[in-house]
Amino acid sequence: MEIYEVKINHLHTPIGFMMRENPTVGFKVQGADNAEFQSARIFVSASEDFSSLMYDSGEMIENLAVYPLPLRLMPRTRYFVRVQVITNKADRAQASTWFETGKMTESWQAEWITTAEKPDNAVPVLARNVEVSKTVKTARLYVGCGGLYEFEINGQKAGNEYLTPYCNKYSSWMQAITHDVTSLLKSGENKLEVTMANGWYKGRFALDGLSDIYGSTLALIAELHICYEDGSAEVICTDNNWHSHKSCYQSADIYDGVQLDFTRDTSERFDVQTVKIDKKLLTDRLSLPVVVKETRKVASVITTPKGEKVLDMGQNMVGWLRVDTAKFKDKNFTVRFFEVLTPEGNVYLDNIRSAKATFSYTSDGQARVTEPEFTFYGFRYAWIDGIGEPPQDAFTGCVAYSDMDLTGNLETSNPLVNRLFLNALWGQKGNFVDVPTDCPQRDERLGWTGDAQVFCGTANFNMDTSAFFAKYMYDMYEEQKEHGGGTPHFVPSFQDGAHGSPMFKGSSAAWADAATIIPWTNYLHSGDKTLLARQYPGMKAWIEYIRKQDTGSFLWDTGFHFGDWLALDTARPERPMGTTPNEMVASAYYLYSAELTAKAAQALGNLDDANEYTSLAAKIRAAMQSEFVSPNGRVTSDTQTAEVIALFVNFATDKAKTAAMLHKKIADNDGHLNTGFVGTAYLNRVLSDNGFNATAYQLLLNKNYPGWLYEVEKGATTIWERWNSIKPDGSLGDVSMNSFNHYAYGAVMEWMYRNCAGLQPLAEGAGFKKIRLAPQPSPQMEWLKASYHSPAGLYRSEWRISERGLQFDFSIPFGAKAMLHLPDAPAEMVINGTKTRYEDGMELSSGVFKIEYAPTAPYYTVYGLDSAAAEVLDNAALSAWLRENVPGFAELPFYLLMGSPAGTIQQLLEGFGLPLNDAIKQKISKEWSKIRSWSV
Ligand code: BGC
Repeated sequence: MEIYEVKINHLHTPIGFMMRENPTVGFKVQGADNAEFQSARIFVSASEDFSSLMYDSGEMIENLAVYPLPLRLMPRTRYFVRVQVITNKADRAQASTWFETGKMTESWQAEWITTAEKPDNAVPVLARNVEVSKTVKTARLYVGCGGLYEFEINGQKAGNEYLTPYCNKYSSWMQAITHDVTSLLKSGENKLEVTMANGWYKGRFALDGLSDIYGSTLALIAELHICYEDGSAEVICTDNNWHSHKSCYQSADIYDGVQLDFTRDTSERFDVQTVKIDKKLLTDRLSLPVVVKETRKVASVITTPKGEKVLDMGQNMVGWLRVDTAKFKDKNFTVRFFEVLTPEGNVYLDNIRSAKATFSYTSDGQARVTEPEFTFYGFRYAWIDGIGEPPQDAFTGCVAYSDMDLTGNLETSNPLVNRLFLNALWGQKGNFVDVPTDCPQRDERLGWTGDAQVFCGTANFNMDTSAFFAKYMYDMYEEQKEHGGGTPHFVPSFQDGAHGSPMFKGSSAAWADAATIIPWTNYLHSGDKTLLARQYPGMKAWIEYIRKQDTGSFLWDTGFHFGDWLALDTARPERPMGTTPNEMVASAYYLYSAELTAKAAQALGNLDDANEYTSLAAKIRAAMQSEFVSPNGRVTSDTQTAEVIALFVNFATDKAKTAAMLHKKIADNDGHLNTGFVGTAYLNRVLSDNGFNATAYQLLLNKNYPGWLYEVEKGATTIWERWNSIKPDGSLGDVSMNSFNHYAYGAVMEWMYRNCAGLQPLAEGAGFKKIRLAPQPSPQMEWLKASYHSPAGLYRSEWRISERGLQFDFSIPFGAKAMLHLPDAPAEMVINGTKTRYEDGMELSSGVFKIEYAPTAPYYTVYGLDSAAAEVLDNAALSAWLRENVPGFAELPFYLLMGSPAGTIQQLLEGFGLPLNDAIKQKISKEWSKIRSWSV
């Protein structure tokens, strides 16, 4: 038995992160041999050998996902944490980690400075030399910046992070980043050089083409704290002793990219001057490091019909290219980054709108390995101009995103679904670059709340996003404080609210509800009450904001809303809002947010609030039922999304009828969805939860438009913004809003984890200490394998359908419990080789479970001439077989085959005058037995 992971605030050995509330410890155990949790004990010490303790929790018998440490922390101090676990079999394990505080509330000795060069230099370097004459024990850099910075000591980058100090609401707080630079200092003279660029603080950004959003001057503040072996210490600060000079960058901006010019004369020295920025804004960081998480080789080099030389990375990715100029060292070149080729196969830049997304390089004749910094690009393709035929091995794709652990995986018998899973995962990689963004390529890249909200469930399964969302939510609450509790459409808002459009005056339902949905979803996954408590005032502020819009009807029927964004059920394609009435969507979210706030209050022990919001929710539900549901239980708006939300937030009065009507709408739409951002997020979940599991699988598996696998078959390597970003005829969708890396519809993966694999978090065991395990296989797929490294440890849920029946394989981690709900289960089944009585909801505790049974409903059909005609016709592979092999079948009028004809397929064919000869009968018995539903 071992503890294989210990995290502090959901991070591995964090340095300089905000520790305002009690830090939390989470740990995972493996190899405990079916033992139960008995107790845990946590020690904290300032020394690595734990010789003197500053905290000892004592034996804790409460089995929590994370344990808060009630510590009084000092700034700039390293703490060592040891965790011990004891099982009911008296086995023990222990493991240690550490964390180090940043400057906390300690005041800054350094000054904010900037270059005195006039006119302003776009990308200046601030520098000074430092003499080190004694042996260095530790050295830490604490840096704040208005703009982006890269800090170098003796020509070496401090740390491995990019885009520091990241993207947040700079007007409320400015993140201070800590770097351990002990190994970069040498004895003698040391060169400190900091290159600064516009970034989000000062550059062109957000929808109105704003610039200088948080400040008009680049500014740096830094303290280098050196502790020497002899016990003495020294602090080097930014102040008037620094100077500045030009960098090799002519320009650097997020949207437009960079111009690197190595012929620039950077020798002239300029003074620096101090800048007035309130040092109280400086706060220890919450942003995760953005690092190069993986690199990719160029898949191929293409020459387009127009003659453009294009690298294909084989994957829509986010980051940049690292270029080794050795083979073209004298050449100047330009790289344009883009996502798709035109139908003719040429470079397509139109959908990135005004973003220049360029890397231009002017050579000084020297060979070097270079990469553009202070920007990122969303691209699969890169057009290389200026060097003739680009050598494939000179370019490396650097995939950069916030440093999160991968936690989830899904694999099925259907390779297209497996690709779809990867597409959603790549959507997360590309759009979790410090802020959860709508898209990473065009002149937008904003923290759109609606997109983040619909995807956060999937995101939480795919990766450990707790710390990532903690920072986004911190910013969200900062915004709410300035918007009367309302949430701007994107966070940070970049003060776009000030810029005119009525659309930006208020908060939109389904978008702003991110304020309740994200903290609650994170809590279900992480089990961290400290984070939930931090965000609770924002949840409450949001629900109170809606209450103010409610004129007493308990409906939300005022204001601007994005509605069921990009739904296909509209007769007005110029209007992207879908047909489901906004007041229904808005009221549904009013109800949902009230319920989530009540649940959060309950989890935090705030029973008054829990009662208050529970009764508010009841009133909203009643008002919705009288306004939006007929007395006989019919949802009054005739859209798929209306029925989806009626089921999801539970204002349907007759769930069975509502689900049946939704199923019928899908059937009438040729088995396809027509939902937008709101409906799609819950569509499959409500179908599976309400008796139409097969319909949900059908939607997933549709290969023609509109549907998820349509995109996959069109070659998508990420999720598209629109169902028709590429149209069936190969032409490209509406250029004004056509991103090929928009994760919102990737939310279907949450259904795969929750329903197909059946991993459902429960509030009473948040952090996956207790789950509902309810896999829902369907004969449309042969097998599925899911795994999830939850905060409680590793869960596995796998199933297979065969002639033997249903087989399941589960792993439940140490200290966790799963309430088992199996589909079509008999009263007795084989569990781990033994015949066992099965009861719905029975409890499994940690261990591995192999379960097999013959289901009470058919999952595995061997087709033959005596199969039901309706079933055969429903199976696309069998229908295709009949068209190809039975003369006359293809010519039958389609209406003869509609409406579930009765009898066997043999009777049907004979009835149509298509008798089968022996040769065909033999062929059928040979070939049909191989056709399964999952080969559809
Ligand atoms: C974004 C979306 C966003 C929407 C608002 C778009 O421009 O890309 O994903 O949610 O605006 O409806």
